[in-house]
Amino acid sequence: MSFIRKFAQMGTAVSVAALLAVAPAAAKEFKIAVGDGAGGTQEALGKAFIEALEKETDGEHTGKLFLNGQLGSEQDTVNDAAIGLLDFSILAINNITPFSPTVGTLTLPYMILSLEDAVKLTQGPVGQELVENTVRDAGVRIIGWAYSGFRVLTNSKKPVETVADLQDLVIRVPKNEIMIATYQSWGVNPTPMAWSETFAGLQTGVVDGQDNPYITVYAMKFDEVQKYITNLRYLFSIEPLVISEAVFQDLSEEEQQAVLAAGQAATEFSEQYLRDQEAKIKEELVSRGMEITDPANDEQEFIDLATKAVWPQFYDSIGGIDKLNEALAEIGRDPVTE
Ligand code: MLT
Repeated sequence: MSFIRKFAQMGTAVSVAALLAVAPAAAKEFKIAVGDGAGGTQEALGKAFIEALEKETDGEHTGKLFLNGQLGSEQDTVNDAAIGLLDFSILAINNITPFSPTVGTLTLPYMILSLEDAVKLTQGPVGQELVENTVRDAGVRIIGWAYSGFRVLTNSKKPVETVADLQDLVIRVPKNEIMIATYQSWGVNPTPMAWSETFAGLQTGVVDGQDNPYITVYAMKFDEVQKYITNLRYLFSIEPLVISEAVFQDLSEEEQQAVLAAGQAATEFSEQYLRDQEAKIKEELVSRGMEITDPANDEQEFIDLATKAVWPQFYDSIGGIDKLNEALAEIGRDPVTE
């Protein structure tokens, strides 16, 4: 017998409002915006989250993925979630940085050198502080992390091995100051463009190239419009799952715990997903005709130019040199000095 009928049979004079206040929460289907197409890390994270959420809530709450930027460009989804128009978004970390500058710690060129570094930085104390800063600055709460691997450079024109090879290419970058500055350190003026417009930009030749992980290149079918890949390792792509803080605060304590637990389960899944998928997807892209080049001299020229010119420009915006050194210590790297 339902709780409400039982109350009524008892003849208790209770107002509708009081009943609603104690009635069990209504089943919810959360809207989850996803920047990438099917077959990538973002979709995998989203599916794992939905499955875990259903399990945590005994099937009461679920979610629906809207792939391929159907609910707007990744940066727009942050704005929409901040004002409670959207429940969740899965997007690349570089598209959160403009709203929460300390997250830039994770997008400094050559900061993260492996999946292990990415896991430590996101799931340890540094990551926890970035989660809190993002709630404060952007109105969204990161509740899960996906890991997509290094962003490799793709282009339609020629193999790129050196910084000199880059000079006559028009490269799309996200609207992210750190990434723009990185290309500038290599002597290139990149073209900032929303993620949702990038495929069309590459297809029509407005831009010649872009960078994103192998898994993302595959999920976005960039092999249809790009031929050459360069194994750059300047940015390890992290793709958080965020919930609107307004939506989160409207949940009961129990629902919040379920959402957080499902986010954690999805994070664990994502780590394994990258390990299982990246090599296979790389092979698949080659079989579809893409050509892979390694940067000359172990990428040293790219590394030297970017770290020297870009890091100092962003010490202040990421929270100061001490914060950066905390992050470096967490992954066993030497501190930097002014
Ligand atoms: C971007 O390049 O804007 C994003 O990293 C793409 C993505 O979310 O996969």
